[in-house]
Amino acid sequence: MINSVFGAMSCDMAIDMGTFHTRIHVKGRDDVAIVPSAVSILHGRNGERRILAVGEEAWQMLGRTPKDVQVVRPIRDGLITEFDVAEALLRHQMVKIQGRRLWVGPRVAICIPYGTTEVEKRAVRELAEAAGAREVHLIEQPLAAAAGAGLPITEACGQMVIDVGAGKTQIAVISLGGIVYSRCVKVGGDHMDSALIRHIEKHYGVSIGVGTSNTLKNLIGTALPEANDRSMVIKGRDLDTGFPRAVEIAQVDVGAALQVAVQLIVDAVIASMEHTPPDLASDIAGTGIVLTGGGAKLSGLDRAIGHATGLAVVIAEEPTSSTVRGAALALQNQQILRAAVG
Ligand SMILES: Nc1ncnc2c1ncn2[C@@H]1O[C@H](COP(=O)(O)OP(=O)(O)OP(=O)(O)O)[C@@H](O)[C@H]1O
Ligand SMILES: [Mg+2]
Repeated sequence: MINSVFGAMSCDMAIDMGTFHTRIHVKGRDDVAIVPSAVSILHGRNGERRILAVGEEAWQMLGRTPKDVQVVRPIRDGLITEFDVAEALLRHQMVKIQGRRLWVGPRVAICIPYGTTEVEKRAVRELAEAAGAREVHLIEQPLAAAAGAGLPITEACGQMVIDVGAGKTQIAVISLGGIVYSRCVKVGGDHMDSALIRHIEKHYGVSIGVGTSNTLKNLIGTALPEANDRSMVIKGRDLDTGFPRAVEIAQVDVGAALQVAVQLIVDAVIASMEHTPPDLASDIAGTGIVLTGGGAKLSGLDRAIGHATGLAVVIAEEPTSSTVRGAALALQNQQILRAAVG
């Protein structure tokens, strides 16, 4: 009774806090609120810390802060490493989305990486409660990603989903609402951005920031060595003179810089297929592979995985929000929620 009264006054929220993006979906709304997982903090002389900006505004400060301001990305390689900062980010976003503080906190489904330990689960639960959640359900990211990509995860048929995020790539084989096999490699968009920074320093003699590298990768990045002849002009600091210099970067060079990361992802997919039980592997040969996560948008990644495995690879519609949409579905569908962690 009390729960149903609370239910009428509260709302349902699905949350996916990723290395790069924090996404929130509110039941009844079509859109997903997406902000960079970043918080800028001012360190006062007496040791106190004050939040200056959250999300997009904080991300824009990256690489441009004075000494007493720090931009913190509280999630590393897919795991929350700075809980107090993550909580501040979540609380800020929850209040912003609701437009005001609700009297009764929302019922929340929060996504966690596959393989999260019991201690880590408790910490995530406490974080969501501290940010204002009334009821917290945890759901494993691969299950949520597959459900959000529209896969029939509760059927007795093997499905493979690959989530290429910023800090990690998680591959999972799912059947009957559960994860049969999963492999996670610490390769994603962040590693590609760093590789691109190093490549441009080495081959063009120019130092660029992570924001520029990210834009360059997203606009002309490619997973295919035989990329076409596009190019993009970027500005950086000349390593010899120390002055700003504009350089034109060829797409084939961007592709070369990303090659190691792409190969690690392809190798992990092949290894996953080798570890998949035979009946499920033959299901996947029929159903193909679904790519989710922001990294799925890397031009040619679907074809690179397709060539290496001989399987059909499909990019999920709106790959960046598949996981949070799947968590939202789970909150409404008891069958999926039961298959989730709890
Ligand atoms: N067009 C694009 N080409 C290549 N990469 C892209 C593109 N668009 C976005 N990305 C990359 O996708 C990554 C973000 O993906 P996503 O939001 O799924 O990550 P995340 O969920 O925050 O991270 P994780 O799941 O690893 O914790 C970023 O590294 C971003 O640069
Ligand atoms: Mg993610």
